[in-house]
Amino acid sequence: MTDAPAKLEIRGLGVRFGGLVALDDVTLSIGRAEIRGVIGPNGAGKTTLLNAVTGVSRPTSGDILLDGRTISGLKSSEIAARGMRRTFQTSQLFRGMTVLENVMTGLHANMRTSIFDAAFSSARVRREEREAAEKAWAALEFVGMTRFADRDGGELSFGQQRIIEIARALVSEPQVILLDEPAVGLSLNRVIELEDLLRKIRAERGVTVIMIEHVIRVVMNVCDRVTVMASGRKIAEGTADEVTSDRNVIEAYLGSGFDADGQKS
Ligand SMILES: Nc1ncnc2c1ncn2[C@@H]1O[C@H](COP(=O)(O)OP(=O)(O)OP(=O)(O)O)[C@@H](O)[C@H]1O
Ligand SMILES: [Mg+2]
Repeated sequence: MTDAPAKLEIRGLGVRFGGLVALDDVTLSIGRAEIRGVIGPNGAGKTTLLNAVTGVSRPTSGDILLDGRTISGLKSSEIAARGMRRTFQTSQLFRGMTVLENVMTGLHANMRTSIFDAAFSSARVRREEREAAEKAWAALEFVGMTRFADRDGGELSFGQQRIIEIARALVSEPQVILLDEPAVGLSLNRVIELEDLLRKIRAERGVTVIMIEHVIRVVMNVCDRVTVMASGRKIAEGTADEVTSDRNVIEAYLGSGFDADGQKS
């Protein structure tokens, strides 16, 4: 992995909100099929980093390259079209839509309802909808959730919804997925399932994963490398073992220890 060209490169990235410096000169290089963890205290700038990479926030300085091509400054729909998908820190399945339909919306990066608005207007649209449903079914199969396909998105438990969100991120066969705290609020059994799923995504799909996570056991168990942020800056990077024994990281983040589930407390 070290010799291969980076899948995603972030160079000297800065994001300001008025006078607040949310990201300051952040540089990361992430390889293909790598699972990169991003950890750090609340307000460190982790979500801002994901927002900047996916075009939700506009960088004020620096560059972001996907396969060596600049994507910074592109609209989020254009970045999505290059093969990038994300999940959100707060769960966002749609109520009033089945789980299968929720996953189908992942095929339409920024036009979440368009396939339904247009439904049944023509044979072509019907065919597209059938193909979308087949892809969504395959994505549910990949995450092991087909038994919920016909249920309303809002009926599922919080933990189940988080897994469906990952299926929605995967359905368009992206090259890079960005997950914002996928394990937050999950029971230990669900956390173990999530770890298995992340390993499967890496092994079977070769997808590059960038994962913000406070549940340290997930970071320890699945991340190839970990970037630690605090106050908008990168303060450490390395294997999970390296960063969790780093004095700066312990002082800035880990000092207060973990609870029984490996959640930062
Ligand atoms: N749209 C915005 N406008 C103004 N300030 C913002 C905006 N988004 C984030 N911030 C600020 O930027 C800083 C970084 O926030 P961010 O959400 O990236 O942190 P985080 O590391 O994801 O934290 P957490 O672990 O709590 O999710 C915080 O001080 C936050 O208040
Ligand atoms: Mg956040």
